Amino acid sequence: MKTNPWIQNVPLYEPGRPLEEVARELGLSDVTALIKTASNENELGPSPKAIEAMQQTASQMHRYPDGACFYLKKKLAEKAGINPENILLGNGSNEIIEFLGHAFLGPNQSMVVSETAFVVYRLVCALFQAPCIQVPMQDFTHDLDAMRAAITPDTRIIAVCNPNNPTGTSVDPQKLTDWVATIPEHVLIAIDEAYFELMPYDARPDLLALIRGGKKNLMILRTFSKAYGLAGLRLGYAIAHPDLITTLNHARQPFNVNAMAQAAALAALDDEDHLQRSYDTNTAGLTYFHAFLDQAGIPYVPSTANFVLIKTGDARQDCQKLLQHKIIARPMTGYGLPEWIRLTIGTQEQNEKMRDTLLSL
Ligand SMILES: Cc1ncc(COP(=O)(O)O)c(C=O)c1O
Repeated sequence: MKTNPWIQNVPLYEPGRPLEEVARELGLSDVTALIKTASNENELGPSPKAIEAMQQTASQMHRYPDGACFYLKKKLAEKAGINPENILLGNGSNEIIEFLGHAFLGPNQSMVVSETAFVVYRLVCALFQAPCIQVPMQDFTHDLDAMRAAITPDTRIIAVCNPNNPTGTSVDPQKLTDWVATIPEHVLIAIDEAYFELMPYDARPDLLALIRGGKKNLMILRTFSKAYGLAGLRLGYAIAHPDLITTLNHARQPFNVNAMAQAAALAALDDEDHLQRSYDTNTAGLTYFHAFLDQAGIPYVPSTANFVLIKTGDARQDCQKLLQHKIIARPMTGYGLPEWIRLTIGTQEQNEKMRDTLLSL
């Protein structure tokens, strides 16, 4: 067999290790003894309303899902003050990043990202043989001016993760809004807001207003994987001008969003209390982390998301040590940060255990 030669150059994504696998390795019979702080999940779990909706949908799993996601788009549109035509749903927001590759990228069509941005943007470039122009960050934050300056005539996409994973930083909301207006119209601006609902209120940009105003080269990406605690269902969405949504729909498989995900998301959107609890727990956890790291003199990057990037010294070794204490953390070696680990904020009890263990390393 002859495969496409470039496929071998697409790095394999290294996911956080499953709880069951780690429990087996440590000889534990109970996965609840572990703290999984490696994948920026919501430790409160899904909304009880979403769980109930999934249970109710289970008996209908012999049916194909609604390929148009009619009700979910309708509800999302109502909440965001936009039209259903502005929305595209994906099997996780990761799938939508891949749609961008299909629609925009190629060997002579580049993407501009930050050097330490969410890795999937780089992987998608490699998948489509597209040059990935990587711009150094400034103080672990997107350098918006340098990114704009890096645009070349063949650039098709400029992507900003706000907040960024793994640094947790976000850019000034007004600066971002002003910057969007300065990007040439032939370049799609993809703003990845995976952690939007967990961000401090005053850090949130209002880019939806630009979409409502008819801006054509802007796309916002959101997900149910973080604040909504539904990562296992794989559901993300894009908000953009209807013309762009139509274009991306050409790259989409007919039933890319499963029926259980649609039912759970509809119910989760009705559970404002659970979303608020998730926000409050995360905000309190971030404050707790920042305070104890300050107190201990451990270098870290102040975060606006649900995780913190922490400089511990030897990331791989330190994650191994944390594992011995039943904490699954993520070394940032793959991001070129071999001295840094990333920890996801958990419940207060989990945060305290992470603190005690970190201090004892
Ligand atoms: C910045 C960013 N974008 C997108 C994603 C992917 O989210 P999803 O689960 O919706 O594919 C993540 C997941 O960690 C992320 O950190």
